[in-house]
Amino acid sequence: MHTAAITGTGVFTPPHAISNDELVEAFNAYADRRNAEGADPPVPHSSADFVRSASGIESRYVMDKEGVLDPARMFPRLPERADDEPSLMAEMALDAARKALAEAGVDAADIDCVICAASNHERAYPAVAIEIQQLLGAGGFAFDMNVACSSATFGIQTAADMIRAGSVRRALVVSPEICSAHLEWRDRDCHFIFGDVATAVVLEREADAAAKDRWTVESTRCATQFSNNIRNNDGFLRRTRDAMEDRRDMQFVQEGRKVFKEVLPLVSRHIAGHLAEEGVAASELRRLWLHQANKAMNDYIGRKVLGREPEPGEQPNILQDYANTSSAGSIIAFSKHSDGLAPGDRGLICSFGAGYSVGSVLVTRRAAAA
Ligand code: COA
Repeated sequence: MHTAAITGTGVFTPPHAISNDELVEAFNAYADRRNAEGADPPVPHSSADFVRSASGIESRYVMDKEGVLDPARMFPRLPERADDEPSLMAEMALDAARKALAEAGVDAADIDCVICAASNHERAYPAVAIEIQQLLGAGGFAFDMNVACSSATFGIQTAADMIRAGSVRRALVVSPEICSAHLEWRDRDCHFIFGDVATAVVLEREADAAAKDRWTVESTRCATQFSNNIRNNDGFLRRTRDAMEDRRDMQFVQEGRKVFKEVLPLVSRHIAGHLAEEGVAASELRRLWLHQANKAMNDYIGRKVLGREPEPGEQPNILQDYANTSSAGSIIAFSKHSDGLAPGDRGLICSFGAGYSVGSVLVTRRAAAA
């Protein structure tokens, strides 16, 4: 049995940011248009103050800003690409992957397995991961997986398990999340929630990485429990049905309050159980990199797990800048806020969301052997 270690991470940040003020201005212009047309019931205005105080989100990045902010459209323009062009997810993942490989000091050719773990996939097949494998010049094999907001941590567990078992030596887990394309920007209750991004994580056999600064993957835990409270009914069977009208349930739909109430205890119990099984006290955790959906949720989980108010920087949030980026959120936090931990320090990456699903990865900082 081998041990797996994370040796590199990378983040691709899309070129366009949308502030709450810009977003709300566009939404309210859309609402005014609908109301002038006699919408019944009328479409109420959104408010930047509400968005900030309810979620902690201040801005988000998107692959197309103009389409999202056009009150006559309210949807990104992401033109279909020809089959001989790189797909959009592959292009985003490639940027993050190259950064992660550079940080790890690993050649793409030495990667044995590419997992594209994301909430949505651009097509049914061939797997986006196989396209990324080819564009990168990686070896081995590749496949797609989807566990909604927990895709990246479930992908890390999958990669770590293969490294532990010896079937691969080095793996790359990429999470290109184009959340702007499954968000209903015309729905006031959720129009502020999501943003686009891509993340990448390189995992290697610990014994191969002794000369590198790294994060030993001590253990991983995944759990799921079925719920309809976060759902998207779109899928390939849609084309076989008679009614092809613009249906709201073909985009992201959630019962935000129920999610809030039900997911918090699930996640707190999951983390406590994972730590207990590993014989790790919460007081030994130097950092928590949590899923990035809602600041109040993260504050609650941090307090519950640590048994006290988290110190500044102990539980970094990135959602104020990126919004909810589905499975990529906890990996952005991990990638951007891992400095300052000493060799032997422990931290926990934890994602949660639709399914419901929860994935946690317990890591220990290790320094390069002198
Ligand atoms: N602008 C102004 N007011 C708004 C608004 C907006 N954009 N959206 C909703 N409101 C109003 C509501 O209509 C409601 O008004 P009412 O009290 O008169 O009925 C009030 O604000 C509160 O709305 P509510 O939806 O209950 O807000 P909330 O405090 O639950 O916050 C979320 C909404 C979505 C931010 C919050 O529920 C959440 O983060 N849930 C968890 C989401 C999550 O983790 N999802 C996982 C996705 S992967």
